[in-house]
Amino acid sequence: MSIKNRYWVLASYPEGMPVENNWRLESKEISDVPNNHILARALYLSVDPYMRGRISAKQGYAKGVELGSVMCGGAVAEIIESNHPDWHPGELVETINFGWQEYAVLATDGLTRVDPDIGPPHAWLSYLGMPGITAWIALNSVGKPKSGETVLVSAASGAVGQVVGQLAKSYGCRAVAVASSQTKLDWCTNLGYDAGVNYRASNDLNADIRQACPKGVDIYFDNTAGPIHDAAMQNLALRARVIVVGTISLAGKFDEPDTGERFLRQILVNRARIEGFLVFDHLEMYPEARRTLAHSAAHGQLVFKTDFMDGIESMPAAFLKLLHSENMGKQLVRTAGSHGYPE
Ligand SMILES: NC(=O)c1ccc[n+]([C@@H]2O[C@H](COP(=O)([O-])OP(=O)(O)OC[C@H]3O[C@@H](n4cnc5c(N)ncnc54)[C@H](OP(=O)(O)O)[C@@H]3O)[C@@H](O)[C@H]2O)c1
Repeated sequence: MSIKNRYWVLASYPEGMPVENNWRLESKEISDVPNNHILARALYLSVDPYMRGRISAKQGYAKGVELGSVMCGGAVAEIIESNHPDWHPGELVETINFGWQEYAVLATDGLTRVDPDIGPPHAWLSYLGMPGITAWIALNSVGKPKSGETVLVSAASGAVGQVVGQLAKSYGCRAVAVASSQTKLDWCTNLGYDAGVNYRASNDLNADIRQACPKGVDIYFDNTAGPIHDAAMQNLALRARVIVVGTISLAGKFDEPDTGERFLRQILVNRARIEGFLVFDHLEMYPEARRTLAHSAAHGQLVFKTDFMDGIESMPAAFLKLLHSENMGKQLVRTAGSHGYPE
């Protein structure tokens, strides 16, 4: 079988905020599927904030994308040819190793079978995938929420944040959203968040968070770093837990020194804890997280918004939406292959 594949390569490292020209769309024939590999066609391609770190000239916690190489990224895909006895054409898989492309030849380690009975295929990239699982594991294993506590969440209407707020409510906590617009905060209220702070409209973020969290912040689920982090740190409750999950507000100054205010006094006085979290350190917890999230979704206790763009051509624009706060829910790109699947 010979197939024309279109894919995005990294054309240049961003200087500051990435722009569409940092990538280039190319095409090539795929004609060979080596032993123990599969050929899969993307149905849904994911764009995620971690990709900012992978295109930095500076190395992060994972190996970066080299210039001229296919841009990294996860996908839900359909196997169309297999040279492995355990994987069959027609099966759906999820993998973080797909890349921004229409087709991929993949080794089979790292593939997850998508079971359409527990959620629509695209959910494996959202509430049943990395974002939802991040919310579940980070909140439970680092935050350890107790009923009556206040959980503050930045990027609250996004892929991770939507799930955090609903989980916090299900544990009897007060959930407080931080987001960039009233429309996003309205969606957070719809999810069950008790209060919200629009950080773009705020003249005094510290005071607005204090008003929304009158008993202080017991758990700060930090998806953003930056000024929201600084304001949250000044509102910690006794024995607060700060979970550093993402630093998307630094996307435009990724290669600059990460300096700013220090909050050691607040940490000392409140005997607070601040801990970095990486979901890939917790692979053994994925099945339980996914099972629990699927159960909640099936029983109407977890709702979720997904923001779709269409076609491989959209990949850079879809990614840049995240960095400019323009996505409303989990940002995905669907391809023609996804037609007919439930959304
Ligand atoms: N550590 C891990 O293992 C792990 C795993 C998954 C995700 N994450 C992190 O979790 C965070 C959320 O990821 P996601 O997939 O759920 O993305 P998302 O929230 O769906 O989308 C990104 C959101 O970030 C917010 N944002 C962008 N620029 C900002 C700025 N300058 N200041 C404040 N907020 C800004 C925007 O929301 P607003 O409209 O509210 O500004 C935007 O919608 C990211 O930082 C990501 O890196 C970490």
